[in-house]
Amino acid sequence: MCGIIGCVGRGDETLQTLVESLGKLEYRGYDSAGVAMAGDRIELRKRAGELDALRAAVPETLPGTVGIGHTRWSTHGPPTDENAHPHVDCTGNVAVVHNGIIENYQPLRDELEAAGHTFESETDTEVVPHLVEDGIADGLDPEAAFRSAVARLEGSYALAMVVAGSEAILAARNDSPLVLGLADDATYLASDVPAFREHTDRVVYLEDGQFARVDRDGWVVTDADGDRIDVEIRTVEWDAEDTGKSGYDHFMLKEIHEQPRALRQCLQGRVDELAGRVSLSELGELDPARVHLVAAGTSYHAAIYGAQLLQQSGIPAQAFYAHEYALSPPPIEDALVVGVSQSGETADTLGAIREASRRGAETLALTNTVGSTMARECNRALFIRSGPEIGVAATKTFAGQQTALNLLTIAASPPSDARDAIAALRDLPANVQTVLDESNAEAVAEAYGGSDAYFFIGRGLNYPVALEGALKTKEITYEHAEGFAAGELKHGPLALVTGDTPVFALVTGDGEAATKTIGSIKEVEARGAPVVAITDGQSEAGRYADHVLRVPETHPRAAAIVANVQLQLVAYHVANRLGRSIDKPRNLAKSVTVE
Ligand code: F6R
Repeated sequence: MCGIIGCVGRGDETLQTLVESLGKLEYRGYDSAGVAMAGDRIELRKRAGELDALRAAVPETLPGTVGIGHTRWSTHGPPTDENAHPHVDCTGNVAVVHNGIIENYQPLRDELEAAGHTFESETDTEVVPHLVEDGIADGLDPEAAFRSAVARLEGSYALAMVVAGSEAILAARNDSPLVLGLADDATYLASDVPAFREHTDRVVYLEDGQFARVDRDGWVVTDADGDRIDVEIRTVEWDAEDTGKSGYDHFMLKEIHEQPRALRQCLQGRVDELAGRVSLSELGELDPARVHLVAAGTSYHAAIYGAQLLQQSGIPAQAFYAHEYALSPPPIEDALVVGVSQSGETADTLGAIREASRRGAETLALTNTVGSTMARECNRALFIRSGPEIGVAATKTFAGQQTALNLLTIAASPPSDARDAIAALRDLPANVQTVLDESNAEAVAEAYGGSDAYFFIGRGLNYPVALEGALKTKEITYEHAEGFAAGELKHGPLALVTGDTPVFALVTGDGEAATKTIGSIKEVEARGAPVVAITDGQSEAGRYADHVLRVPETHPRAAAIVANVQLQLVAYHVANRLGRSIDKPRNLAKSVTVE
């Protein structure tokens, strides 16, 4: 998704600061980038493609001490230099960057063109500088012109604007994130904290309907009428180094290896092992009659896992694709609706949560992002505490979601002895570390990289892990991969199985799920497919497999978290062998803020 940065106060270093900050936003996914510096006139540089193309087009400095920058993820018009942001008006004095979608841009554009404005791009965004231009021509000052332009917009936007001859950035937010960064010597404005984290840890998250003005004298947040709003200044709890690669070739590999620490953070202070209890004081009293989990992508797989945990504990629970839920919600009755979302900004999941709120349901955000829209809009929030995740493919946050869902389940369940599950959670970081230290996933990737397709099967708690293994593989290898409930194989997918389609079978424990999945292994072997068993050795799965990815023996709930780490590593190594763009897979964005 698009990324915004704005900066006031860094003097001659402003331009380079903007470009560096855009680098910190690359993880969100983008296809073009640009910057605008405001001095006596607007200096604009923008390029389609990677940030290096923009770096090559940008000199050391440009006149002006105030600037904005943008990484674009196309929605209206292909990724070209013209469609890259910032966009300017006819006079070239007003420059605007935008995240989101302006739904009524076409009638606005028709109106502006009829009035004589000339457009240079195919974007929805470009209507904004032209509307501001009209306001200024009518005698309004830039801030009043900006407010009057914003008042005409329908849709979602985070907007930042600079005007020639003014040393201020004006910003507005509706349904797209925007955060101020407050350093001693400078003020930043961005769509996400990593953009400026190396300069400051003090932040202000803007709410929908709020405006901000940032200039050399400071900053102010106002409402649509221009009245000042008292906002909370928060402190970010992670360091700038957390957004670096720390010697790993890719953020994804680094984040896979950060899982033991991320899980420790998730569990810290929340588990009382002696009493066999979990305490999530931030949630208050929890006694849901039923739970609906709404999510998308990887988070949906965590939601399926969470729904199974809750059901096993006697709480009726169901996982839904957020986009489907928003479209046709089931009877919500007395449900607690849980939005599972790494970013807390996914438009589909926000849509489902808002629909649930409209129908009077209690809502809970299970997210990694403090200050995210979802965390603020839901009645309660449970943070997974994974730290920033830069790689587009979710890894440590999936494990964090699974772990937090275990905590939520234990906390919401009628009192019972949860000591076994709690002990397994205590051992979880060490068990994940064992997999990281001992995994032979690279050899498996070597053996099967280049196959026709990759299939993943599992039952029970391992079913969502099979789905996740396939999603990770397709996202970063661009190869065909599918995950199935192992029992479904014979109902259709078996037709796809050949000697060139390795089947990754998740078999943990020695119960019925394991025995039946071994049956599925035999079915695919009979069709000549190579089998990779992800197993703890409690069953005979290893005997029937061509390769084994070993995981430590643990509680079934924890096994599904640990086993997934092997699949993350296989996907990573296959993608690496194929030379794929692992941290920024084609066509994908880290945070999908459009529906
Ligand atoms: C997959 C991935 C996506 C996200 C999905 C939801 O690796 O990252 O499938 O899981 O876009 O995003 P969040 O969790 O931010 O709501």
